Amino acid sequence: MKENSRRGFMGKAFGAVAGIGAVGSLVAMKETWNPLPSVKAAGFTTLDMTIYKENELVVEKWRGKPIFILKQSAEMLDTEDKNMSKITGKTTAEMDKKRLIKIGDAHYLVCIGLCTHLGCIPGYRPEVKNFLCACHGGMYDDTGMVTKSPPPRGLDIPPFKIDGMKLVLGEEGPEYKKMKETGITL
Ligand code: FES
Repeated sequence: MKENSRRGFMGKAFGAVAGIGAVGSLVAMKETWNPLPSVKAAGFTTLDMTIYKENELVVEKWRGKPIFILKQSAEMLDTEDKNMSKITGKTTAEMDKKRLIKIGDAHYLVCIGLCTHLGCIPGYRPEVKNFLCACHGGMYDDTGMVTKSPPPRGLDIPPFKIDGMKLVLGEEGPEYKKMKETGITL
C-alpha cells in the first residue's frame, strides 16, 4: 500500500470508529434526556393522587423543577382552620383551604419546592409540620404559607388541572385560575 492510500485508509477507518462512537454517545444522551414515564408530551406531568400518604412529603418533578406534594391529615386541616380563623376572624364553616387542592375527599398541598426568597429547596419537618429553608431561616406552614421571613410570599403553585383522581401539571384548570385571580399564587 502506498503511503498516501495507506493514510487515506487509516483516516477512513478512524472516521468510521469515531462515527460509531458519536452515534453511541448520542443514543446515551438521548436516553438521559428521555422523560420519566410520568412526564407526557408538551411539558405536562400527570400524577395519580391516590398514592400519597398523609403528612408524608413526596417530591415530584415538573419541567425540571421539584414539586412538593403533601397530603393533609385531619389534624393538619384542623390546625389550618384554627390558624386561619385567628388571622381572618372567620369561622371554620366560612373558610376554605385556599392554598390546598381538593381531590376526592382529600386535600393536598401541591407547590413548587423552591424558596420564594432566593430559590433554595426548603425541607419538610413532619414532626412539627412545617418547612424550614436552611439558607436564611425562612419558614412555611404545611399549606406553604410563609410563617417566618425573609421569603416574600408563600410557595408558588404550579399550573394544574384536576382530572378525576389525577392532577395534570402544566394545564390551567378552573381551580388554578381562581387561585391566580385571588392572588394565592403568582
Ligand atoms: S433562600 Fe430560603 S430563606 Fe433565603
